[in-house]
Amino acid sequence: MTLPDNQPRQNACPRHINRTSSQNRGRRISSCLTRSSHPDCRATAKAADRSFPSIVQVCDALDQLPASDGFDLVIGNPPYGRVTLAPHQRECYRRSLYGHANLYGVFTDLAIRWTKPGGVIAYVTPTSFLAGQYFKALRGLLSSEAPPVAVDFLQARRGVFQDVLQEAVLATYRREGKVGEATVHFLGLRDGRAQVEEVGSFRLPVDESGPWIAPREPHHRALAEQLTRMPNRLADLGYKVATGPLVWNRHKDQLRNDMKPGTYPLIWAESVTSDGSFRFRATKRNHSPYFQTRKSDEWLKVVRPCVLLQRTTAKEQTRRLIAAELPAE
Ligand SMILES: C[S@@+](CC[C@H](N)C(=O)[O-])C[C@H]1O[C@@H](n2cnc3c(N)ncnc32)[C@H](O)[C@@H]1O
Repeated sequence: MTLPDNQPRQNACPRHINRTSSQNRGRRISSCLTRSSHPDCRATAKAADRSFPSIVQVCDALDQLPASDGFDLVIGNPPYGRVTLAPHQRECYRRSLYGHANLYGVFTDLAIRWTKPGGVIAYVTPTSFLAGQYFKALRGLLSSEAPPVAVDFLQARRGVFQDVLQEAVLATYRREGKVGEATVHFLGLRDGRAQVEEVGSFRLPVDESGPWIAPREPHHRALAEQLTRMPNRLADLGYKVATGPLVWNRHKDQLRNDMKPGTYPLIWAESVTSDGSFRFRATKRNHSPYFQTRKSDEWLKVVRPCVLLQRTTAKEQTRRLIAAELPAE
């Protein structure tokens, strides 16, 4: 993420700008862009008999808060990935954080701060913020400060971003815009040319932090509308959603291949089959079927009736939600 040098002085999140700026110098963007120090840049500037303007600021963008109203347009392809923010940054971005921070979520909050009322944000990001729990505060913030105008899904995962397999979305938001319907398009590639397909639109949920239910395929349109209209949520029906308590690689020495006193069956995602039935198995690499408990492991045991849901599925799978009932025995 880069900032023009000739903008009004930015407000830094307290105390940290100097340290981060010098630490990051030359690491994030080419020095050719930042200063006229590169021989090619110097030669070009000399030939044109002009000095090469300094157009880019090298810094930790997360420590830059605008002093002025901001920009008419903020475009970004922000970094993504889970990040442990420095305490002053966590405090600074508290309004959009819920649980683990992801860099692209924090950069979206930053874009809101950098955009003036009426201005537009155009960001390429992963799709996880549309419904992920860790992004609920961000969705709430976007709904109230910069509602989406268009959400365009990149259909082609290959040939657009090198080495990126993550589902990506190109979203535009208007700062202090009207909360209404956001349009949805699919962006594809055919013979190396961009294809844009109109899919429909979606409405933001009444609960501002709720998931944005947008069609991801043309035939999802009716499904998305039905989902939006459904009066009940799982919680209304008495279900509680939770992730399994065991993180297997923190307990490697307790995994067992045989059932013995003190061992319990360990349920891996592979036990949920694509036809929705349960098959107790542990065939994948590093999987073992049993778990030796210790005294302090009571909290790891699940002893209530459950519907198991495989939560990491790929876009290419015919079904994205695969569930099976956990048998009582
Ligand atoms: C997804 S890349 C996009 C690069 C470029 N904007 C583009 O579209 O090709 C994200 C960039 O953000 C930079 N970056 C990561 N954390 C940053 C931070 N805290 N401040 C400024 N830039 C950062 C990375 O080094 C990387 O170059």
